[in-house]
Amino acid sequence: MSKFIPVNKPDLTGNEKKYLIECIDTGWISSEGPFVEKLEHGMCELTGREHAFAVCNGSAALELAVKAIGIQPGDEVIMPTFTIISCALAVIRAGAVPVYVDSDLETWNMQMDGIENLINPKTKAIMAVHIYGITVDMDPLLKIAKKYNLKVIEDAAEVIGQTYKGRQCGSFGDISTFSFYPNKHVTTGEGGMVLTNDAQIAEKCKSMRNLCFGKKNRFEHESIGWNFRMSNLQAAVGVAQLERISDTLKRKSAVGQMYRYFLKENDNIQLPLDKTSYCENIFWIFGIISLQKNNNAQWWMDKLKKDDIGTRPFFYPMHLQTTLKYAQKLDCSYKNSEFLSNFGFYLPSSTTLSKKDIKNICYKINKICE
Ligand SMILES: Cc1ncc(COP(=O)(O)O)c(C=O)c1O
Repeated sequence: MSKFIPVNKPDLTGNEKKYLIECIDTGWISSEGPFVEKLEHGMCELTGREHAFAVCNGSAALELAVKAIGIQPGDEVIMPTFTIISCALAVIRAGAVPVYVDSDLETWNMQMDGIENLINPKTKAIMAVHIYGITVDMDPLLKIAKKYNLKVIEDAAEVIGQTYKGRQCGSFGDISTFSFYPNKHVTTGEGGMVLTNDAQIAEKCKSMRNLCFGKKNRFEHESIGWNFRMSNLQAAVGVAQLERISDTLKRKSAVGQMYRYFLKENDNIQLPLDKTSYCENIFWIFGIISLQKNNNAQWWMDKLKKDDIGTRPFFYPMHLQTTLKYAQKLDCSYKNSEFLSNFGFYLPSSTTLSKKDIKNICYKINKICE
């Protein structure tokens, strides 16, 4: 009997258990425990950022980031339409308006040449989201932001430890965010982080993450914040994960390269780029695109499910989300994002996959097309 291969399985074989036991033995389980600061410190070291704040998930990190850089009701924030809804929700919940940009068919990231036309006096920020393994081309984006005096939020959820032109992702713009969901390069179960070099933004993050407790009178709150805190238990897992980040990235890369090798002769699918002039793909996930006009992603995923292979569809673009229709501004055509969403999906991408698993998955994919 064949065994179902899930799309993701975290590897918790380092010090995770040891550090969790330490939390229980010492009684430090809340956000005040020492692992939270250790994780924040570790992420500062990794990215070169000065301030980091652990939060309860990557969506919360985006909410905090948007508010901390001062986005106000009525402001516009430029972002990709092909992304997770957390990006748009953070903007909408701040009372601002997401303005979407279409994606590039090769890198799957926001098209740079779509950005400048959308800028008007209401535009306050650009949200750069690294999608599915290839980074955003940050230099042109930062140049546009500088020219029009816009803030930059970098959503680096999917690229922890990855570099753009040798510089760490999560180190760009006014503020950056990470997610530590179990499919990320570092997991805490649920978790996230905001990072910045700006002391004022940092102060806001620190306060808003923790209900804006008063400095003199603790329970007279200074502003409207959230409880977005991360527990010491979660951070303990994160610290153990971060200790092994370079090994994780190496194994992710190896998984991606094996897929590329075993699928290289398959003309029915588009494979992810393994590099561009500015970055190398670590293959956070191994995404593929059906090039068969009559067979969309769902068709492939149904076939693979029958073969006990787990898959996930690509994102459903923001401009098509009926639940967001009232709150968005549409400015261009989004044909590429719609194509990626219809025809793209990803394969099991865990570091725990063996060469045999990958060979087997690829054999089945190649067989589907015969
Ligand atoms: C690009 C991106 N941003 C944000 C998030 C949200 O993170 P979380 O699931 O931790 O809320 C994700 C989740 O996968 C993501 O891929």
